[in-house]
Formats: sequence, structure tokens, C-alpha cells
Amino acid sequence: MNHLDLPALTLAAGTVRLPGSKSISNRMLLLAALAEGTTEIRDLLDSDDTRVMLAALAKVGVGITALGGATWRVEGCNGVFPVRDADLFMGNAGTAIRPLTAALALSGGHYRLSGVSRMHERPIGDLVDGLMQIGADVRYTGNPGFPPLAIHPAQVKLAAPIRLRGDVSSQFLTALLMALPLIDSGAVIEMTTELISRPYVEITLNLMARFGVEVRREGWQRFTIPAGQRYRSPGVLHVEGDASAASYFLAAGVICGGPVRVEGVGRNSIQGDVRFADALETMGARIEWGEQYIEARGPAAGKLKAFDLDLNHIPDAAMTLAVAALFADGRCVLRNIASWRVKETDRIAAMATELRKLGATVEEGADFIAVTPASTLIPHVAIDTYDDHRMAMCFSLAALGGVPVTITDPQCVKKTFPDYFDALAEIAAPVIAIDGPSASGKGTVAERVAAALGYHYLDSGSLYRLTALAAIRAAVALDDEAGVAGLAAGLPASFEGGRILLAGDNVTDAIRSEEISVGASKVAALPAVRAALLARQRAYRRFPGLVADGRDMGSVVFPTAVVKVFLTASAEVRAERRYKQLIAKGMPANMHALLQDLQERDARDAQRSVAPLRQCDDADLVDTTEMNIEAAVAAVMAIVRQQRL
Ligand code: DC
Repeated sequence: MNHLDLPALTLAAGTVRLPGSKSISNRMLLLAALAEGTTEIRDLLDSDDTRVMLAALAKVGVGITALGGATWRVEGCNGVFPVRDADLFMGNAGTAIRPLTAALALSGGHYRLSGVSRMHERPIGDLVDGLMQIGADVRYTGNPGFPPLAIHPAQVKLAAPIRLRGDVSSQFLTALLMALPLIDSGAVIEMTTELISRPYVEITLNLMARFGVEVRREGWQRFTIPAGQRYRSPGVLHVEGDASAASYFLAAGVICGGPVRVEGVGRNSIQGDVRFADALETMGARIEWGEQYIEARGPAAGKLKAFDLDLNHIPDAAMTLAVAALFADGRCVLRNIASWRVKETDRIAAMATELRKLGATVEEGADFIAVTPASTLIPHVAIDTYDDHRMAMCFSLAALGGVPVTITDPQCVKKTFPDYFDALAEIAAPVIAIDGPSASGKGTVAERVAAALGYHYLDSGSLYRLTALAAIRAAVALDDEAGVAGLAAGLPASFEGGRILLAGDNVTDAIRSEEISVGASKVAALPAVRAALLARQRAYRRFPGLVADGRDMGSVVFPTAVVKVFLTASAEVRAERRYKQLIAKGMPANMHALLQDLQERDARDAQRSVAPLRQCDDADLVDTTEMNIEAAVAAVMAIVRQQRL
């Protein structure tokens, strides 16, 4: 796929579990590699940039083991990489090439570092200058000032403080700080220009301290690493959720009203990008801070307010603000963001070009961008993403203005957040919930509505049916709540075309038998079973949208569904429909028994303590007693159209 069509989105609400922070993941990996002892890192981000770091460390001989579930073990090499000669490919990962260049330059081997062509346009000269001042041997093998680089062993000596520029990228300082403890004599770094992106340096200092190395900081001017400090593994470490990634979801909640909660970062986060929430607050958003979450909702009244802010401290999350500016009540100015020009792409130029496509008036300068929103967004714009994950992620928010937007090359998000669009869909993709009693026709209607809209389809009843069948096959009693819930949690079920498979077996017809219908109704009354199936059902919510049928789609599973329909028919008519279905399939059927069964099942579904079958207050009633399927589909589509879907 080389583009993603996002539909017009009008709602964003729910909870997102964040992937691990890129900045923390790559720093922890390098520090763990340089340390004495073994470190276990939990919740490591799995993305292109962390894979680049993992691969490079493995190539220079660091023992790295995946322990499963985002946990990794790193065997520290105590400052000496076992492999003394290697070619390292760094992709476009700035958080990998900069610190590795410094660490390798002080470790006495022969290494060659290169990346993708954009990486060879991203400056590294200030760092190389800093390293040369202490005698390191780092050479440019392409253009001076840029990768690729060749590193050779050299006698390193620290006579005077290292003088380093801080106004192009804070990663140069981060790289030197992390590498210098490899030299026992201690070191001093003096900034010759104003240091930008300071919160990222704080992350560095914070993580170095966890590995036992303290840096004395005098303002943001002078950094002293006292002699004789070595990195020591702290044992087990945990990576916080990515605060830059949080910005997209928080902004979505603010643009559409929310609430949207991100889990994995909170008020004690060590990442500067959590301050993005303050910028949203300036725009009138309402923010709530927890230990492990941040929640955002729109202003109590009126539009988002225009802003004029210095965003030097949150350069990455600031991109999200530039897109949020499309929803403000006037001209928004983002200042002191010159570093955008040397990131994955020239982000000031890229941002200006793409915002203009949507109708905004944009002024750009060397270190600022000003965005004046148009009264309405231009629909069906194709956004170019410049191989920049953040361009793809932040422009997805334009769809929240209620216009369809196309994101080209959406897979570029894999640099830091491979599942970004699925996560966004879980809070923003439109859901049509069709609930109702057995044999009301909701399955057929839902499937046809999904086909008409090009949406995904979830038959949630089949999950309860599959659970009952799995329990019967495994000889687990249907009232053994823990046993059945265990099966439901790991249900080996898949849907392929029109077929439903259980552990590879085609059970499409088997789960429609009366025995399984009764069994499904029993297991569906068990709270632990319902809980075990919840996340699985929510994961069906993907772009461009979902039609889900069941009993509690609108009440429990997708409470924010944009359309909620309660589809029903008299018990007699439903029994007759089931009777005809069974006869058509050549299955035995008895009208009287079917009616009695249906009534018993309705009663059980309606009386159970969790998610009982009932019409939600906000659901539209469609009574199909007098309708055929076509009429029922037309009735639901009429409701859907009112929502402009
Ligand atoms: O829709 P169906 O007849 O295939 O559902 C089978 C059983 O599962 C039915 O007794 C109700 C239960 N069910 C439920 O409790 N919640 C859902 N969302 C879907 C079905």
C-alpha cells in the first residue's frame, strides 16, 4: 500500500496505550551496552530506529537477547566493544548514529558508519569537531560535515574543555556526554552557542545517572564529567511511553472534544515532550495529569485559541501544534524551531507546503512558521510525507476537521510507531453499532451495510459462539468462568472471506447449531468471558470504519459509536426466520421449540448482570417485524447518512 485514505472523522475519544519512547529506548540500549553488567530493558520500542541501534550494537559484539514481550537483555561490554572492525548501517536514525559515532570514536576500533541518502544530508560536523579536539580520528568519506564516516583508533587526550556548538542539534551534546565516561580522566564540555532542545539533554543526564554516572551542569553552558566514573548496570529498567507520540492522540482529543487518554506517560515523565500538553492548554484544552496517564479534552466552550509560542523545548511535538493550528481561531506562530530544517526532512518547508494544500495561509522563516487557518479545510487532499514519520502522523489529524484526507507512504510511521494508524483508528475510526436480539436479522443487515460503506465488519456473536464451541471441544464446563475465559482470551479463531475457522477448522456452520446457540448465550453471561473478549473486539476498529453487530456494541464495546441502531422484530417473526434458515441448510427444525428457545435466550441475555441486552438510550430503534432484508438495510443506511458517513 502506498497511500492511506482517511475518511472524514468527527470524533476522537478513548484510551491509547503508547509505544515505548524512542529517545529513551535508544539511549538505554547504548548505555546498557557500555556498562558493566547485564541490563534487562522492559517495554523497549519496536521500530526502525531501535532496530538500527540493536543491529549496530549486535554487530560490534554486544550480547543482545530478545526475551519476548518487548523485553530485552543487554550484556554490557564495560566500555570495550568486542568487535574492533565493522561496517554499520544507520538508516535514518539520528538517535543511533550520533551517540554511536562518539562511543565508537573513543573505543579504539575501525568502524564505518553510513545511512540512507537523507542521513547523508543531516549534519554531524559539530560532533566530529568536538571529538577531534580530544584527538579522536573521525573522517568524512562523503561530504565534509556529513555522514558517511570512518573511525580509526587514536590516542585520546583531554587537555582543555571540549568546545561544542549547541544550536544545530542537542544530540551532539548527548552523544559526547554518553561517550566521555569511557575515558577515565573525566571531561568538560563548554557550549559555544545557545543549546537547543534542552529537555532531550535532561533525558540523557537522567539516564546516565541511572547507570551511575553523574554530570555536573552549570546552567546549559558547561558540563563536567568527574574523573573515574564508569557505567554500571542498574539491573532492570523500564521504558516510558513515547511522549512525542502522545501528542497526536492528545491533539485528537482536543480537536474533537475527547476525552482521549494516553497511558504510559504521566506527571513524573522524564520526557520534555509532555510539556506539549501545556501548549494545548494555552489553546484552551482541558488537561488532566495522572501518575501514568495524560488525558485531554477540548475547550469548555468555543473554538481553540490561536497561540504565539517559543517551542524550542519541544521541537518534535511542536509539529503536532502546527497541524492543530488548522483548528484555531486565528493566526498561530511557532517560534525558535530552526532544528526542524535538519530533521528527517526540512520540516519547516514540508509543513508549509502541506498545510497550504489544506487551505491554510502559511508564512515561513529560518526558524519559525506561522499558520492562519482557513474557515474550512479543503477535502480530499493528498498529503506528501517526505519519508518523515511525524509528517504522516500529524497530518492524519487533518481528517478530524471532518474532511477525507489521503496520507501518502503511510508506512513511514514505522520509524517510531509501526501501529500508529491502528491506534488512531481505535479512538477515531467511525463505528456503526447494530445491537439486537437473536435472529433479528442484524447479522445480515450489518454485513450489507459494511459492504455498502466499504467498512470492516465484526460479528461479535460469533466470538461467543466460538468460545462455546472451544469449551465444548476442550471439555471445559460452560459455567467454569475462569476456564472458559482462559479459552476466550487465546481463542485461535480467524475469519477468512465468508469462512470462520477455529484452530484451522472450518466451523462456519457448526457454530450456528442450536447447541452452540444455547452454549454461547451461557458463556456470554460470564463477566470474565466478556472481559477477555473486549480488547479483541475493539481491535476490529480500523480505517475506514467498522460495522459491529451484537448485544453490547453500542453500550460497552464501542460506547462512542457514531451510529447506534437497535434492530429487533417480534419473537414469532424471528423464530420463523431462524426456522427457514435451518430448513434451507437442510438442518432439522421445529418451530415451537425454536420460539421457546429464542424467548429463553432473550430472557437470559436481557437479565444477565453484565452488558444485558437492551436498547441504549442513544440508539435508534429499527423494528423489522414488517420488513424484508432490503427494507431493513435501507432503514439503517438512512440513519447512517444522517451522520454524513
Ligand atoms: O448474535 P448471536 O446470536 O450470534 O449471539 C450468540 C450469543 O452471544 C447470544 O446468546 C448473545 C451473545 N452475545 C452477547 O452476549 N454479546 C454480543 N455482543 C454478541 C452476542
